[in-house]
Amino acid sequence: MIYDYLIIGSGIAGLNAARLIPKDKKVLILCKKSPWECNTFWAQGGVATAVDKTDIEPHIQDTLIAGVHHNNEQAVRILSENSRACIDDLITAGLQFDKNAKGELAFTKEAAHCRSRILHADGDATGRMIHLFLLQVCPHEIMTNAVVCDLLIENGVCYGAQYFSDETTQKVVYAHNTIIASGGIGSIYKYHTNSTAIAGEIQGICLEKGLELKDMEMMQFHPTVVKGTHFARKPLLSEALRGEGAHIVDEENKRFVFDYHKDGELAPRDVVSRAIFDYAKKTKKGVFLSFENFEKAEFKKRFPNIYANLKELGFELPFEKVPISPAFHYAMGGIATNLDAQVLGMKNLYAIGECACTGVHGANRLASNSLLEGIVFSKIAVEKSLAINFTIESKNYTQSIKHFIRNQEIDKEIKNRLRKMMWEHVAIMRNEEELKNTLIQIDTFLKEEVGRLLFLRLLTAKSILKAAINRKESLGAHYIKN
Ligand code: SIN
Repeated sequence: MIYDYLIIGSGIAGLNAARLIPKDKKVLILCKKSPWECNTFWAQGGVATAVDKTDIEPHIQDTLIAGVHHNNEQAVRILSENSRACIDDLITAGLQFDKNAKGELAFTKEAAHCRSRILHADGDATGRMIHLFLLQVCPHEIMTNAVVCDLLIENGVCYGAQYFSDETTQKVVYAHNTIIASGGIGSIYKYHTNSTAIAGEIQGICLEKGLELKDMEMMQFHPTVVKGTHFARKPLLSEALRGEGAHIVDEENKRFVFDYHKDGELAPRDVVSRAIFDYAKKTKKGVFLSFENFEKAEFKKRFPNIYANLKELGFELPFEKVPISPAFHYAMGGIATNLDAQVLGMKNLYAIGECACTGVHGANRLASNSLLEGIVFSKIAVEKSLAINFTIESKNYTQSIKHFIRNQEIDKEIKNRLRKMMWEHVAIMRNEEELKNTLIQIDTFLKEEVGRLLFLRLLTAKSILKAAINRKESLGAHYIKN
């Protein structure tokens, strides 16, 4: 059987694509673990949108300034011009964003936005609420625990994918159109804010097939995660907290980020992350997020999940300040696509959301533009594929189906070493010699008999290293300090 669509990933981009594909099409959504093991589920702050027509140019400018003009301006324009209509479409379909006392949409502000234009849901659980809604309205089949290990690609056509359905069993699914919506690369770093299912494997498959990854040196670190918890995935303290008055302070309550940028805590994310990293290293002082401007009742209402999570960790907000550090958050780089979300060089393969690089984010993503990108470019991919109406014949795929070994015993140790190396040498501040040494080490790992999934992860990590070594000057999230 041949599906009309295969969607790899069940975050906002994949599920919104599924929502928009007509019900009579045969669609299969593969998710690596459970459907909520995706970054959308963890997104707190919100989704940005141009509030109205007059806000399109300011939103574009803010996106370009945060992205240090490394963005593809046309992609940014598409994002912003389509933003409000895509949001309104979701609202019409039944998604509820938070409203203000007058019953109007409650727009908030986040760092590097010149005005309030971020929508949120259930206070600080925006991603989770959007995800829940998209799952509820999903008209198509979702298969869980399906770990993609290969794409069936020949002569610019994608015939579908191969996946592990358990530790050893491998299956093949054929489709006329394949949409990759598999997210970024979080688990390649030791400390991150991502779902632990996100590890950059599909990006590795693309490299193997000779497809281009773009801007892979552009890795974003969120400035404010809770420091000192045991898990790799660090609890996020949303950008919206700073947008609404939380301050970054040292042990003596000095707001030191103003020493680095005139906008202090509201400077672009790369600047704030570097400031925290540099200040803590130079002064050896602790760095905290302080909530002294908030009233308790107001705080609990606006940020109910952060309040509850932090209470569990032993903090009584807004009265106590919380120790923070930056952690890996988002990959601006990814699978190179054109403005129709088509993977470059491919007829019927699309990439949307964090796994893709449309160029919309440039060298540093503007806060809350990622959920928006997932919404806008999933619609574009669906519209384009419906217009092209490409069909495959499975007999035209002449390559033999490989048999992979999913995991090997040495994987765990190498995975941990990789994550540590990436965190220590390929993170907020980079040094050419360290980058080169890390690349040599990754090449050594690649010579080992590692399992298929780690092999793919290593290929993706290698592409980050190569891109970082090739960019000799600092730009946005890529900061060289030799
Ligand atoms: C946050 O709430 O700070 C995350 C929002 C984002 O990454 O855009």
